[in-house]
Amino acid sequence: MDLTKRPRRLRRSEAVRSLVRETSVRVDDLIYPMFVTEGEKTREPIDSMPGQYRFTVDELVAECQELWDLGIPAVNLFGYSTEKDDMATKAYDPEGLIQRAVRGIKAQVPELCVQTDIALDPYTNHGHDGLVVDDEIINDETVEVLCKMALSHAEAGVDWVAPSDMMDGRVGGIRQALDAEGHANVGILAYSAKYASCFYGPFRGALESAPKKGDKKTYQMDPANGREALVEIALDIEQGADVVMIKPALAYLDVIAAARAAFDVPIAAYNVSGEFGMITAAAERGWVDREKAIMETLTSIKRAGADMILTYFAKEVALMLK
Ligand code: PBG
Repeated sequence: MDLTKRPRRLRRSEAVRSLVRETSVRVDDLIYPMFVTEGEKTREPIDSMPGQYRFTVDELVAECQELWDLGIPAVNLFGYSTEKDDMATKAYDPEGLIQRAVRGIKAQVPELCVQTDIALDPYTNHGHDGLVVDDEIINDETVEVLCKMALSHAEAGVDWVAPSDMMDGRVGGIRQALDAEGHANVGILAYSAKYASCFYGPFRGALESAPKKGDKKTYQMDPANGREALVEIALDIEQGADVVMIKPALAYLDVIAAARAAFDVPIAAYNVSGEFGMITAAAERGWVDREKAIMETLTSIKRAGADMILTYFAKEVALMLK
């Protein structure tokens, strides 16, 4: 054949392929989501997430040192609270689990970027991210509690707070509350486009935080909507979000790409527990190669336009890339 253009020329060797490669996953793109529990010297395996643990604070600090030594720049903490009530009072207790965890990590690994989840679901007895009155998740009163929660984390020394609750106006509320108390340097990683997804199942198992009644569709987004994500993201940027997030990642790569085209702020994507579960389960059965599936997945999330990825594979990837 008389072809002038032969794209295969650029695929002839690994050396050539590496020269023309457009996307790479690096350890410094990764944020490791971690679960914290009360007690001492324990790493409790999580049934719904094989290979993931609930760490007591001492073990968490030791693990964070290891993650930092591997080059992982950030962790994102979730509390496994057994003391739940209808006002989520444990969420903003200065001596609470997450508050102690942040202080512990900051004392031992001060340079690690410590991020904390801001939402009420692990602390409410009904399992919703906000306060509930007459079966309704009430917005503005919830934002007040989220502000108290964020402030208590800031006082413990957190680098970024990460509101995952999807209440309207919470980014602006948290920004003002932080600034008023002298925490202008604390950043906000906003879960801006968070969908009402079935892929959070294993996570809710890890925290025993599944809603007792109803679902989260009045606050999390409808999976059918793409344009609405851009509205949510624009609102969060206006209100002071430093980084915006799309969650889940895999079924929403188009949303990541659209956000990348529309906005110049850093974009995060959450490779959520159900996505972790699909690879884990398929690899256990020998249906996919675990390491290759992980790298291909994370590469696709970066290719779509994410700057950073929250992933339960973070440590494994750091070890692979070493
Ligand atoms: C709760 C929260 C959830 C996740 C992060 N924060 C679950 C939910 O919204 O029900 C899911 C993370 C994952 O599945 O890995 N505010």
